[in-house]
Amino acid sequence: MKNPYIAQKTEIMEVIVETSSDLDVRTYKLKLDEGQEMKFMPGQFVELSIPGIGEAPFGFSSSPLESSQIEVTIKKVGSVTEAIHNLKPKDNLWIRGPFGNTFPVKEMEGSDIFYIAGGLGLAPLRPLILYMLHDTNRAKYGQIQMLLAARSTGDFIFKREYDDWAKSPNTNLTLTIDRPEEGWQGQVGFPHMLLPEINFNYSNAYVVLCGPPIMIKAVASKLQEMGVPTEKIVTTLEMRMTCGVGKCGKCNIGHQYVCIDGPVFSMAQLAEMPDEY
Ligand SMILES: Cc1cc2nc3c(=O)[nH]c(=O)nc-3n(C[C@H](O)[C@H](O)[C@H](O)COP(=O)(O)OP(=O)(O)OC[C@H]3O[C@@H](n4cnc5c(N)ncnc54)[C@H](O)[C@@H]3O)c2cc1C
Ligand code: FES
Repeated sequence: MKNPYIAQKTEIMEVIVETSSDLDVRTYKLKLDEGQEMKFMPGQFVELSIPGIGEAPFGFSSSPLESSQIEVTIKKVGSVTEAIHNLKPKDNLWIRGPFGNTFPVKEMEGSDIFYIAGGLGLAPLRPLILYMLHDTNRAKYGQIQMLLAARSTGDFIFKREYDDWAKSPNTNLTLTIDRPEEGWQGQVGFPHMLLPEINFNYSNAYVVLCGPPIMIKAVASKLQEMGVPTEKIVTTLEMRMTCGVGKCGKCNIGHQYVCIDGPVFSMAQLAEMPDEY
């Protein structure tokens, strides 16, 4: 990595509007200056900045097997994210990273994998999904089950890729929304309520979970009720961050810094930490 405090310039190559609801979520395809690359692993994140506005952390949402052009998927919530949403292709964004730990891709080899994502929580899981579904890696993992939840049909992100994901061998995808909608053929209900109906063998499996804290807590508690060990349930946290490199103390939970000890943690690790996430 270059000096982790110095941001590099990127150019926005494409902006994809993900949602057709009140939520405004967009994916930004970014290219570094002069053909430079940014190598990363699933779970890691970057700090993006606009001079004069500010800086904020975002997970990679693209495949780690593609490092010349990276993607980040951003929900408009405040000053930095609004300023990013005002940018267009060919505009510049500044980037520092990659930061943080990664999903345990090696330890997960030989296991079945159950992805459970709520809303924007699918963004940090997409690098792991694309990594595992890629031809070079698919045989290293067993059955892949995905349960993707959104408030409404307009809130699903990366919809254009679901058919391709479901076509991968031994892979199954279930979609659910919070309330019924006319014409909707998928499931209705919160993910933790649907878990008992999904035929999945947890005996040699990892569950990878990401979404709003309330969903993470409900799903994790249901999984434990169903006998899944907490060390096999993995999630990624979003805390307030500034430096991204363990210096400012902004992101600590107890003795851990989410920016360097995380953002990926198992439920067993979180159980040992103060309940601040
Ligand atoms: C490791 C990591 C990965 C992240 N990945 C993504 C991602 O892929 N896509 C994405 O859209 N966002 C992601 N976030 C969250 C993102 O950093 C915040 O949305 C962003 O910092 C908001 O900045 P802002 O200046 O636009 O909003 P602000 O003006 O700072 O805040 C606007 C509102 O959002 C709330 N808020 C701000 N930050 C957070 C946060 N971290 N958690 C909960 N509430 C918050 C504030 O309380 C306020 O109500 C990630 C955060 C972390 C730490
Ligand atoms: S963001 Fe500074 S210590 Fe984690």
